[in-house]
Amino acid sequence: MAIYQIVKSEDEILRQKAKEIEEVTPQVCKLLDNLRDTLYATSYGVGLAAPQIGISKRAIVVDVDDELFELINPEVVEQEGLAVDTEGCLSVPGIVGEVIRAKKVKIRALNREGEEVVIVADGLLARAFQHEIDHLDGILFIDKAENIRQME
Ligand code: CO
Repeated sequence: MAIYQIVKSEDEILRQKAKEIEEVTPQVCKLLDNLRDTLYATSYGVGLAAPQIGISKRAIVVDVDDELFELINPEVVEQEGLAVDTEGCLSVPGIVGEVIRAKKVKIRALNREGEEVVIVADGLLARAFQHEIDHLDGILFIDKAENIRQME
């Protein structure tokens, strides 16, 4: 079990486009384990992207309502509608803001077995996927948010 320090928003790695994972090796599975352990070590996080633990590769974990998703090279392949809600980020501690995102998304990715998976999500889960995939493209929620403020 390895818990990493979460990279903060000043760090350049959070602004880079993360590298595609070409093959699901044991090392990639280890990366997913470390992402999961680090996410669960936080009290309020719902997702974490590899750049947030200092690794510029396209892997994310998301857990909303006690269901864990571990995704490699995730992509939004379809989206529908718009919704606005309050977001925060473990790399931007203490800050929240309202972000407009697609209400419903279809995500395509690889799982830790290297199999293609397709997930249809809406609500908070859809938002969490979009937030984490943004991290893989060097985008932080504060780039898109309105009414950015200190969390109360
Ligand atoms: Co974040």
